Amino acid sequence: MSIIRIDGGRRLYGTVSVHGAKNSVLPIMAAALLACGETVIHNCPNLSDVDAATRILVHLGCIVNREGAKVYVDSKTLTRSDIPHELMREMRSSVIFLGAIMARLGEAVLSLPGGCELGPRPIDLHLSALRAMGAEIDEEGGNIVCKAKSLKGCRINLAFPSVGATENVMLAAAKCAGTTIITNAACEPEIWDLQSYMRRLGIKVHGAGTSIITIEGCGQKGNTEHWVIPDRIVAATYMACAASSGGMIELTNVYPGHILAVTETLEEMGCEIKTGSDTILINADKPRKAVKPIITKPYPGFPTDAQPPVMAASLTADGTTVFVENIFENRYRHVAELRRMGADIKTEGRVAIVSGVKKLHGAPITSTDLRGGASLLVAALGAEGITEISGVAHIDRGYDDITGVLESLGADILKFD
Ligand code: EPZ
Repeated sequence: MSIIRIDGGRRLYGTVSVHGAKNSVLPIMAAALLACGETVIHNCPNLSDVDAATRILVHLGCIVNREGAKVYVDSKTLTRSDIPHELMREMRSSVIFLGAIMARLGEAVLSLPGGCELGPRPIDLHLSALRAMGAEIDEEGGNIVCKAKSLKGCRINLAFPSVGATENVMLAAAKCAGTTIITNAACEPEIWDLQSYMRRLGIKVHGAGTSIITIEGCGQKGNTEHWVIPDRIVAATYMACAASSGGMIELTNVYPGHILAVTETLEEMGCEIKTGSDTILINADKPRKAVKPIITKPYPGFPTDAQPPVMAASLTADGTTVFVENIFENRYRHVAELRRMGADIKTEGRVAIVSGVKKLHGAPITSTDLRGGASLLVAALGAEGITEISGVAHIDRGYDDITGVLESLGADILKFD
């Protein structure tokens, strides 16, 4: 089991090229089932979640090859409509294959997805939408069995702008008779990226980025290529690293517009931020100060995935910062670990109150989930002394070689088994 060891207190300097977005490439790998041909996905990060999606595609009968940051998915040979429990458990995004399999084969058998434990993560919105499109769904013995002679386009109003449910409906609607209109849809940039991939396949879909998305079911062209958008949460994490350790880093291959809520918060914290069309320069040499309450919301609000890393950057800021986590019920599991480093954090339900301390100290700590793990890295970079982080597998799910990147920026960091 890997461990990451950091000797903190070194300022970071240098340039980071931000890799492709995990939360975009995973639904696009599922959407490749719609192609009935070969999809070439460019800017694909090297992540264990991408490997898990590859295992699902191969199990379903597809041919998947990888060359560096390029992944080739040939779904002509799709033969199966079931995903075994052990593959479903590996990540939350496994549930996104449901819509694509239903669109291609009209039947699917799977179970509840796995993924980060952030409190209850039901899929009721996914299933009720598919039922509204005409699917018969039986939930028996831990299995979810879906069947539909033909899915029909209809109006789907989501009770909550769920990212996953929006993606599943977009995929299920791609081949069905008639038009599907999703209202109260999620507006995340990853939804926009899925739309642009579907359009490359010739699917008439529009409205992504707004709360109303329209999909006209139709046939698709076979082969296509897609360039995945940069990972805005990875970018936010590296900026939090700079804020925590001090120093100055430049991010390239990033869309500043996708993380405005985070850059504005870090500027308020005292960081100097300059943006270009696809670059962000953050100078964090000045001491940080506490900011107004950070309230997580669906996009374009403050992203819940950036809450843990930005919290870690606020631990030694002068003053008190309040966090309100509105998206997930239990997304403060990193707090107990940060307290081991001397952080002063009080939590009450969805609220966390961070009182800035003069300095943090190194400690042996454990990563509890993906972004929680990232927050431990951020804190350790600014702490005095040695920190050893276990549970690194969580971090590998969403960050491509983060220890190598931080080392290139001057951190004293080592990953070992
Ligand atoms: C996506 O998860 C992301 N994952 C998450 O990132 C991210 O935190 C989340 O969106 C919110 O932005 C991927 O894209 C793979 P939701 P998803 O459906 O689709 C409730 C990371 O760190 N809900 O928008 O699962 C749900 O319980 C991960 O990269 C229902 O009640 O998120 C949650 O409270 C973590 N019923 C809220 O909605 C449903 O059927 C948001 O969930 C679906 C969701």
